Amino acid sequence: MKKQDNNIFPVFHKIIQRKDKEKLLNQKSKVIWLTGLSGAGKTTVAKHLDDELYKRGFVTQILDGDNIRSGINNNLTFSEDDRYENIRRIAEVSKLFLNCGIITINSFISPTEEIREMAMDIVGKENFIEVFINAPLEVCEKRDTKGLYAKARRGEIRDFTGIDSPFEIPEHADIEVRTDIQSLEESVNQILEFVLSRIKYSEQV
Ligand code: ADX
Repeated sequence: MKKQDNNIFPVFHKIIQRKDKEKLLNQKSKVIWLTGLSGAGKTTVAKHLDDELYKRGFVTQILDGDNIRSGINNNLTFSEDDRYENIRRIAEVSKLFLNCGIITINSFISPTEEIREMAMDIVGKENFIEVFINAPLEVCEKRDTKGLYAKARRGEIRDFTGIDSPFEIPEHADIEVRTDIQSLEESVNQILEFVLSRIKYSEQV
């Protein structure tokens, strides 16, 4: 490289853009954001949605609360501030995937409108698909797949969403599925129906 006198190193070649990567992958990237109570079925829906998209040739990445919180976000608690920071970081990570042309499927409780709006602002409204994975608290608590509701009721876990930490019903979700009434297949199909036309590759921006 030619020695620079002003510490500026301009890049002359064309930087590969998101649209170039989308073209390469033959898809449009989006962030599919699943919000809902613990036990509502976010992870299960994410997994099956991921399978269906893979079968159709889409390149995706699942970002899931429990995994992310044992890795990149393992220094965060469930305080209001840390939940905000959890979602902020994930939204930033999602944006990196977005710019690589990759679709992310995010499953995080993301409990408040403020938190979800912040995520949407970071990712960009036009890139963000909000899906409310809805099952009543009573149903989630009865399922108690991880035994955490019982622990929260016994006071062994503090700040548990739905028990002693709030969950605000999403008012602006693009899609709402009711996992207590619908089958898993119905829920996934409902999401696919909305998502497929939006992730299908086209030259238009
Ligand atoms: S969020 O509120 O910051 O969006 P996130 O989705 O990352 O939460 O993590 C939720 C998961 O962490 C739950 O599915 C559950 O397994 C676990 N968890 C542990 N403690 C809590 C708690 N106090 N409240 C909610 N979930 C908890």
